[in-house]
Order: sequence, then C-alpha cells, then structure tokens
Amino acid sequence: MEKLSFPKDFLWGSATASYQVEGAGHEGGRSECIWDTFARKPGAVYAGENGDVACDQYHRFEEDIALMAELGFKSYRFSIAWPRIIPGGRGKVNPEGIAYYRRLCEELHKKGIHTCATLYHWDLPQVLEDAGGWPNRSIVDAFEEYVKVCYQELGDLVDMWITINEPYCVAFLGHLYGLHAPGYRDLEKAFAAVHHVNMAHGVAVREYRKTGLKAPIGITWNCITPRPATASKADKDAADLSRAFNTEIFLFPCLGKGYPDLSKATDCKIPVKDGDLEIIAQPIDFIGANFYSESPAAADESSPYKFTMKPFWNDTTYMGWPITPGGLERQLVWIAEVSKGAFGKAEIPIYITENGCAYDDIVTHDGRVHDRDRISYLQQHLAVCADVIKKGVPLKGYYVWSLLDNFEWSFGYTRRFGVIHVDFKSMKRTPKDSAYFLRDTITGFGEWF
Ligand code: FCB
Repeated sequence: MEKLSFPKDFLWGSATASYQVEGAGHEGGRSECIWDTFARKPGAVYAGENGDVACDQYHRFEEDIALMAELGFKSYRFSIAWPRIIPGGRGKVNPEGIAYYRRLCEELHKKGIHTCATLYHWDLPQVLEDAGGWPNRSIVDAFEEYVKVCYQELGDLVDMWITINEPYCVAFLGHLYGLHAPGYRDLEKAFAAVHHVNMAHGVAVREYRKTGLKAPIGITWNCITPRPATASKADKDAADLSRAFNTEIFLFPCLGKGYPDLSKATDCKIPVKDGDLEIIAQPIDFIGANFYSESPAAADESSPYKFTMKPFWNDTTYMGWPITPGGLERQLVWIAEVSKGAFGKAEIPIYITENGCAYDDIVTHDGRVHDRDRISYLQQHLAVCADVIKKGVPLKGYYVWSLLDNFEWSFGYTRRFGVIHVDFKSMKRTPKDSAYFLRDTITGFGEWF
C-alpha cells in the first residue's frame, strides 16, 4: 500500500462552471447565453435538457460551501457568468450579478476557502453571438470590457483568476465539430475563433496587470497530447500533427512561441494581424491543465486533417473515455517542458484545474453512493501527480471535476461527474465515497493499492 503524499501547500480544490450548476436561468437580471439557445435546438442536447435549474447553486451556495468545508477542500473553482454581469454583452453592468458573486466569495472566505474564478466557461451572452460571436474580432473588445468590470467589482475577493476555460472546446467543439454551442461546422470560423479566444486571453491578462491586483492569473487548457498508435514514423508524425492542430495552436502563441506550422493538416490560415502575437503572449502566473484521457493517433490521408484516432484497450468511464493515468504523466511532463523558460521564467507553475470521471452513480439502500470506480480513477491519477512532483514537474494543485453532479453540456444530466451526488428532483446533495476518499487524501491519509 503506497501513501499518496503531497507537499504541505498543495492546493486541493473542486471545480464547477456557472451554466452547469447555477440554475436561476431567468433570475437576477441574467440574459440568455448561447447554451440556452443551443439547448432548444432539436437533437443538440440530450432530451432537450438545459441549465435553467441545474443544481440550483444560485440559491444553495451556502449549503454547497458548507459541504466543501466539511470535506476539507481548500479552494473552489467556479466561473462567472458573463450574462449576469453585463446582460447586454456590452455596456450596462448588472448590480445583482455582481452582488451574487460577492456573496459567493464572501461565504467561501468565511469558511476559509480560497476563491478561483474563471472568467469564461462557455456561457457567451446570446446578443454577442448574434453579433458574430467568437469568429468576429470585435468579441475581443467586448471581453476586455467585461473582464475589467470583473476585476474592479470582484478583485478584492478573488484569490486566483483563470481567463478562459478550454479554448479548444470554445473554438473547435463550438465551431468545427458542431457539438457545443453555437454549433457550427466550419474550419474558417473555427480558426477565427481560435485566434480571437487567444487574443481575448492576452487582452484579459494585459488589462489585469494595469489594475495592480496581486492574485495570480493564468489560463486553463485541455491539452490533447495523443500517443502514436504504432512505432512508424508516419504515426509518430500524425500524433505530433494532432497535438499541433488541437493543442499547440492555443499554447504556443500564449507562451510566446507563435502559431505552429499546420500546413500538413490544412491550407486554412489563422487571421493574424500585425501586433496580435505580442498581445496574446502576456506573461501568465500559472498554467491550468484539464485532463481526462489520452488516445492513440495514426496517420490517415483520408481524414480531413490527415490524422485519426485509433481504438484503445483501456477500461472506460461512463463517457466511454479510456482511463489512462500514464497519459496524464506524459502530458504534465510535456507541458512543463514546453513552458520552461517562457517569459524568462525558469518554470511556470501548473495546476490541474479539472480531472475526474463520470459513472452511473446511484444512492443505495444505506443512503450512500459507493463509487468504487471513481475512487480507483482518482487514486491512479493522484498517484501520477505525487510522482511527477518528485520528478520536478512544478505541479502546485489539483481540482477535482466536479464538486457536484451537474449539467454535462450536450449529455444533459445523464453524466454524473460529481464527488457529491445530486438528486435533480429534490436537489438533495449526498457526498459519494469518493468525496470521503479525497477528504482523507487532503488530510494526509490517502492511499492507493
Ligand atoms: C470539460 C469541461 C467541464 C466538464 C468536463 C467533463 O471539458 O471544462 O465543463 O464538462 O469537461
């Protein structure tokens, strides 16, 4: 039996996002976002479900924070809903929206919990989508206006800022694969969205530095870092190409390395103007990494971008995603390597800002949720975290996704990622066994195998 041991100041947290947990969709002066619209599109979201009520955290945050405290979490990663802060997308600020996040942060601080706020976790005000959304360059100015309001109104209460959650999903799931709002399948739009998301991040950091606020600011990427399916040069190149297309396209410009060469995948160009790369490459204080799984990639001339994903042998979660703790190790080492020396810093601290899994959890006759599969998943991934720290990767914290079962985007409420079970009829919260496993790990009594 090996002990899962972590540095004393390791930041243990749980994560959620506004649209997935808040509910109160038509309250507090909130306007509609692109997910409200997308959820109404036939076939876009499982059974037409939406975030109108979600976990009702808007009304129940005190109960949720009390649970976090009981479980020993030191930090809460939540996101701020742009349509609550500036319902018109630009212009008038909504005091009720500000007041909600101030109450949330104050309650967290009262319980000694550190606040980690994501500025954008996908709930774009619909009015801005109507004006062209992420593919339209003017979104960068709108984002600048919005983040300045957040810094000014919430800056005294936020302990850590994340500009954007998973630019890949914003640009590609939303504009290339049509799986997320707003649901386009258009490479030109997707590449424009890539660039404007990167710009929005840069502008958000640039403006933050002007405020004099001292809390660290960074970005959260979901890096797709596949392994090659075979030892052939073609498959190795395909894995590299996939990583460039899906991941380096976001990381590299933000780390000051410019855009990767994608000419082997496509002729489509990213709409860069003079001076843009300087704006994007703002020094950040940390890198947030979301990790769920790794897949094998192979060369495929008939695929649109010349690479394809291959079958795997691993056990899967209820998402069908392979369980690959080795992939987490490879990815963390890769991130540490490519970020080393960026902005003249010896290393950039890394936080896992999401890691976790969905299972078909049920509350059993004893009123408990015995989610052994999730515990095993967490044990394996945390063992990797403990190990890479010893090998010198600057990993400083870990947020489990998610605190609560919640609205899992196009899967609606059918995928339960929480370490706390939510009965979506009664809204009753039941910590799962995995929550107690994390509690013990945080206290220093975590074990694996
Ligand atoms: C990530 C998202 C998060 C959640 C998990 C399962 O891509 O950031 O909101 O849906 O996946």
